[in-house]
Amino acid sequence: MTDFQDKFKEFSDAFERSLAEYLASVSFKPQVLDESFRYSLLVGGKRVRPVLMFAGAQMLGGKISDVVSLAIALEMIHTYSLIHDDLPAMDNDDFRRGQPSSHKKFGEGQAILAGDALLNRAFEICLGEGKKGRTYLNAAMLIAKNAGAEGMIAGQAADLYFQGNTEANEKDYEFIARNKTAKMFMSAVAVPAYVYGADENIVSLLLEYGKNLGYLFQITDDMLDVSGEFEKLGKTIGKDEQEHKISAVNIYGMEKCKEKADYYCDLCLKLLGQLPYECSFLEEFTRFVRAREK
Ligand code: IPE
Ligand code: IPE
Ligand code: MG
Ligand code: MG
Ligand code: MG
Repeated sequence: MTDFQDKFKEFSDAFERSLAEYLASVSFKPQVLDESFRYSLLVGGKRVRPVLMFAGAQMLGGKISDVVSLAIALEMIHTYSLIHDDLPAMDNDDFRRGQPSSHKKFGEGQAILAGDALLNRAFEICLGEGKKGRTYLNAAMLIAKNAGAEGMIAGQAADLYFQGNTEANEKDYEFIARNKTAKMFMSAVAVPAYVYGADENIVSLLLEYGKNLGYLFQITDDMLDVSGEFEKLGKTIGKDEQEHKISAVNIYGMEKCKEKADYYCDLCLKLLGQLPYECSFLEEFTRFVRAREK
């Protein structure tokens, strides 16, 4: 393993341990809710958002433990967004993280409720963290704003709204990708800076990095929907075309997608170069997103 892979594993292992500890401390009734809540959280997933948050905390001289609860909350919100995204009323996807989607396993009603439960628990955690003081409260508010009607939900709404619309253009695609994906990355990257009360220019550089990393992530997600492998991705290939989605591939074409991805990758590296910190992990992380196969 490379140093980057080692470090990624160290962060994701730390996250898995904390999540397992958290889940051991709660139990829900009825049992089906308990199972559906745990199922989607534990069925796999790359944990890129928690890893980014941990890397940010270390880069700023802090500790993983300072942000671990907010990382769990963010991953819960992400997981709920995937459960709802896979529903027949949205992307109608039978597989997620290599396993049956929540609605395939528990039925649509229970899948909707598992998502609702994850979202509410995430905010319970955020409110608890907010009690630690003003900087934590600001970080929790960033998570809330970027996940809601001016963030991920807006992107998902636009994603559905533009489905099948042959007139959608680059601006529409950018709106979708920025909101449904990049806003969650902005939270992941900037939460530690909020928690430590970092200078405004550091916060804005990190938000800008998170945004462009999010674009890169969604463009590569769209490319992998065409040219990826189920065994690596754990989700059905070809869904975007099948569901007439607005994706980077149908907006730009595959060749220009690669150019766009290179552009966002370079931009992210430039932004990192402006930070007064050692950011080799985030640099490698950016290259990993550009080259990823899963
Ligand atoms: C999938 O996110 C949804 C998108 C924003 C494209 P991830 O690729 O991070 O999914 P998991 O968490 O690893 O399953
Ligand atoms: C979803 O985008 C982003 C979310 C907010 C869940 P996609 O619909 O492209 O994600 P996948 O491909 O199903 O993971
Ligand atoms: Mg979708
Ligand atoms: Mg989808
Ligand atoms: Mg996709």
